[in-house]
Amino acid sequence: MAEKHFSLSALALVALVVTANGQAADAEAYREFYPHVAIDPARGVAGGADAEFGATLQYWQDEQALEQNKGFIGQVDQEWKLNWKFMDLDRSDDMHPGYLALEKAEKLFKFWVKREPEFRACLGEGKTDLTGLAAGYPKYDPKLKKIMTVESRVEHCAQTALWENFRQGTPENNLISLYFKSLSATAPIKVDTNSPEIMASYKRGEKLFYTKVGQYNFSCASCHTSSGLLGQRFRGQVPTSPFADAAHFPTYRMNLGDIESLQQRFMRCNLQARTKGLPPGNPDYTDLEVFYTVLSNGYPVSVPSAR
Ligand code: HEC
Repeated sequence: MAEKHFSLSALALVALVVTANGQAADAEAYREFYPHVAIDPARGVAGGADAEFGATLQYWQDEQALEQNKGFIGQVDQEWKLNWKFMDLDRSDDMHPGYLALEKAEKLFKFWVKREPEFRACLGEGKTDLTGLAAGYPKYDPKLKKIMTVESRVEHCAQTALWENFRQGTPENNLISLYFKSLSATAPIKVDTNSPEIMASYKRGEKLFYTKVGQYNFSCASCHTSSGLLGQRFRGQVPTSPFADAAHFPTYRMNLGDIESLQQRFMRCNLQARTKGLPPGNPDYTDLEVFYTVLSNGYPVSVPSAR
């Protein structure tokens, strides 16, 4: 009897130690990383070790290249090499669902600005002409002391000027963000890589890109680099290079029949790789958005678009 009692408390003791160890391990969060590729953030869209990201830049980097390689369109094994850039609106004569989304977006924007002109001034940080402004996002806002994306600016201004809750990822936020960004269409993306706050966020986003997570132990890089699945089919889709991807978001996503923000796409990629997605606006997704948008620097804003 005494012996049994002893062994039970010994067991309890072991359990305690394990829990304590478990917590210690959690605090340090053991992580595995996909091999890192050297990117020069100062070079923007041209800053990749191109071969590591599919060596496709030559096919889609500008109008001329796209024109020359339009023969790829419709050929399953070739098409992805255009990074889907042929689907940007300015390159498509077809009536495009992106146009319809934009029409709806413009109406919504005008409705709110008529009601409360302060909304426009807030989006423009004092400026009423919003043309070209979205090309400078994400950016550090010294007044709010945080990094703002187009979507978080819209959320913030809706709260302060409209008393409305247009949370990131909601249809209202996506529509207003789409309209705001469309006012910068064709302007080259220019995220400020001289800002220490932006570069600290870029570094965190870059690390996240290579961090393995979830049931498959996949990182973003596992699918979006050449040593991973880039260019190969994954559930009928082909992952492409991350360069210039931020240029066309928010985009009209055909298979969803709706507008999707960049961070909603991150969430969907996480879910596809059996990882719990984060809500749009989460600081980790903001860091990933900064990373992605720096890799789009110099490429024209291509909104509206469809994918
Ligand atoms: C399991 C493979 C896989 C993983 C892991 C993955 N993706 Fe994707 N991703 C895809 C596929 C497939 C597509 C659709 C094809 C395309 O549009 O490039 C895609 C598309 C995207 C797009 C949109 C591209 C476009 O042209 O519209 C972005 C942005 C993106 N992924 C970012 C990420 C980020 C960031 C991560 C990590 C958090 C990630 N992905 C993880 C497979 C993956």
